[in-house]
Amino acid sequence: MKVLVTGGAGFIGSHIVDMLIDNDYEVCIVDNMSHGEKQNINSKAKVYKVDIRSPKLKEVFQIEKPDYVIHEAAQICVNNSLINPLEDADINIMGTINILESCKTVNVKKIIYPASAAIFGNPKYLPIDEKHPLDMISPYGVSKHTVEHYLNVYKYLYGIDYICLRYSNVYGPRQDSSGEGGVVSIFFDRLKKGKTPVIYGNGKQIRDFVYVEDVARANMMSLESHKSGMYNVCTNVKTTVNKLLECIEKILNVNVQPIHLESRKGDIRDSYMSYDKIYEELGWKPKYKLDMGIRKIENYTCNFN
Ligand SMILES: NC(=O)c1ccc[n+]([C@@H]2O[C@H](COP(=O)([O-])OP(=O)(O)OC[C@H]3O[C@@H](n4cnc5c(N)ncnc54)[C@H](O)[C@@H]3O)[C@@H](O)[C@H]2O)c1
Repeated sequence: MKVLVTGGAGFIGSHIVDMLIDNDYEVCIVDNMSHGEKQNINSKAKVYKVDIRSPKLKEVFQIEKPDYVIHEAAQICVNNSLINPLEDADINIMGTINILESCKTVNVKKIIYPASAAIFGNPKYLPIDEKHPLDMISPYGVSKHTVEHYLNVYKYLYGIDYICLRYSNVYGPRQDSSGEGGVVSIFFDRLKKGKTPVIYGNGKQIRDFVYVEDVARANMMSLESHKSGMYNVCTNVKTTVNKLLECIEKILNVNVQPIHLESRKGDIRDSYMSYDKIYEELGWKPKYKLDMGIRKIENYTCNFN
């Protein structure tokens, strides 16, 4: 079976590619390398440096004729979506429509798409389940959720099956620590370099950190399942940002005093999610506890070539 992975040179996409290849799938990658890294790319995957908005995308689909698509490529930064909502919508919405139109031309069986906890806004209750009302508070939340509607429409009109995975905060090796990357990799990077970490707000905000290999496994199980619909991919574990920092300090054997800055616009106060639905219907549950995942980052070395 052949899988086309968009964003396969990025953080989550590259781990999905590795897992698929380890499980004997044939894999090709579409990535414009705007945020991807060459060293993330598995040498057994065929790579197309193409933008998902480009007319060239259809040519790639014609050449590869994938059975499945896992669509990870996106503008991922909440803050960028506030500064440039047009670009956010162009990549995340228009780019995805281009993918869906390409899927139509070669009869792709199923597409797996990552949404985000950002679509729930400030939660009305916790843990967030799949029935939780939606209330987006950033253009990024809107663009990620808009695609969920398109997936439904393309299934209804053209029979392209889909699963939409709503990830909580994903962390692991290869995550970008520059700019507004994941808080785990930012803390990790600063502590390793002997720099002071920055916490926005008092650090008591709750997050749900899910390890990237667990996320990759959820994607692979989604391809192999006959189910479709929306599923949370998370741990249902409450971790404050202060607690996260403590955990990383312990593993790196350092002790630091963080700088506290004002909370950022568009950031959600507290969020953790339930994985009951995906466990009941697909049999997925997370394997990694936070300290196990953080130890894996500490011991990570790239094993390609
Ligand atoms: N990281 C998280 O915690 C998290 C949480 C929820 C959802 N998500 C979603 O998961 C997906 C993957 O996120 P990530 O953290 O791996 O991000 P990432 O930035 O590491 O990877 C995205 C990849 O997409 C590529 N890309 C971006 N725009 C493109 C375009 N126009 N055409 C082709 N390629 C393009 C980038 O070069 C990069 O390699 C995204 O859709 C993101 O919204 C991530």
